[in-house]
Amino acid sequence: MTLLQLTSLSKRYGAVAALDGVNLSVAAGSRTAIVGPSGCGKTTLLRLVAGFDEPDGGTIAFDGEMLADASGQVPAHKRGIGIVAQDGCLFPHLTIAQNIGFGMEAERRVKEAKAAELMDMVGLDRAMLSRKPDQLSGGQQQRVALARALARSPRLMLLDEPFSALDTGLRTATRKAVTEVLTAAGITTLLVTHDQAEALAFADQVAVMRAGRFAQVGSPREVYSRPVDPVTAAFLGEAIVLPATIAGGRAESPLGLLPVDDASRQGRAEIMLRPEQISVFQTGEGASGTITEINFCGPTTDVRIALGGEGAFSFRLDMPSRETFLPGDRVRIGVTGTAHVFR
Ligand SMILES: Nc1ncnc2c1ncn2[C@@H]1O[C@H](COP(=O)(O)OP(=O)(O)O)[C@@H](O)[C@H]1O
Ligand SMILES: [Mg+2]
Repeated sequence: MTLLQLTSLSKRYGAVAALDGVNLSVAAGSRTAIVGPSGCGKTTLLRLVAGFDEPDGGTIAFDGEMLADASGQVPAHKRGIGIVAQDGCLFPHLTIAQNIGFGMEAERRVKEAKAAELMDMVGLDRAMLSRKPDQLSGGQQQRVALARALARSPRLMLLDEPFSALDTGLRTATRKAVTEVLTAAGITTLLVTHDQAEALAFADQVAVMRAGRFAQVGSPREVYSRPVDPVTAAFLGEAIVLPATIAGGRAESPLGLLPVDDASRQGRAEIMLRPEQISVFQTGEGASGTITEINFCGPTTDVRIALGGEGAFSFRLDMPSRETFLPGDRVRIGVTGTAHVFR
């Protein structure tokens, strides 16, 4: 069942088309990630869904109800949609308990009990309820912001880069905790992020956004393995893009003859491999290349490999550091799986 449906949604700020015809279906109980570079329109999209801003065109339908169209708007507080912003936006002068209870219509005792329950849910010690936000770490504040949004029992949760202010380890742990809470509560979630790994790990549907539009919407595997174009490919991770000539389901490329994922294609095309498909050996089968640059990074070594022949095509690769290569070393390059052909 579709819970949220966005159709031809658009929003301009002066000359800037922040949203330029966005379509999206979000299934009930699912997790969707919207990923794109800074300024591409992610926050604008969430603000329209939350009801903080009005679209210039298009419609927002939610749970069988029209929230926004040419005839009007359902106000934000009547939408049943929760939102957690980048910096949490807790009220600094209120305690954690007061922050969570803010806007909750209930007696004080009921509010306090609910706040305590929500603290358990987001994995925070109830003893923190009497503290002020500045007495909590960044990750703890984000969990409180989530608890506050959960207090209103939303049917949809909007998360706007909620982990971006946290450092790497804490970020992964907080993301996992938040995911578990939302899944346990069965709340449909829309996460906005500029971090592709976060989007791929979090979601069952990923929408890749660029300049106010969705370049591609699909499962994490689909968008990663079968991106629509080289820009989308590069945004989602390291991509080795090669010129090729395709015939009979195989591509003639600088890395040799490779099977492709689109058997119907013929003629010249661009193909893509992900780095995990590439193995580098001192000797053996495969295309030959030369190591031209090496940058040791601990567990992995970042190398640049030039392929022989005219045109001198080169690509970079993060390799496990268990083997030591030196600039000038001749290597063999093996490829696993199929190459993706861009449309
Ligand atoms: N209130 C506003 N007034 C003018 N321009 C805005 C406003 N909000 C956003 N924009 C512009 O719209 C574009 C999209 O912004 P935003 O949705 O915040 O991007 P993102 O969240 O992806 O970084 C940007 O070019 C931004 O400068
Ligand atoms: Mg933003």
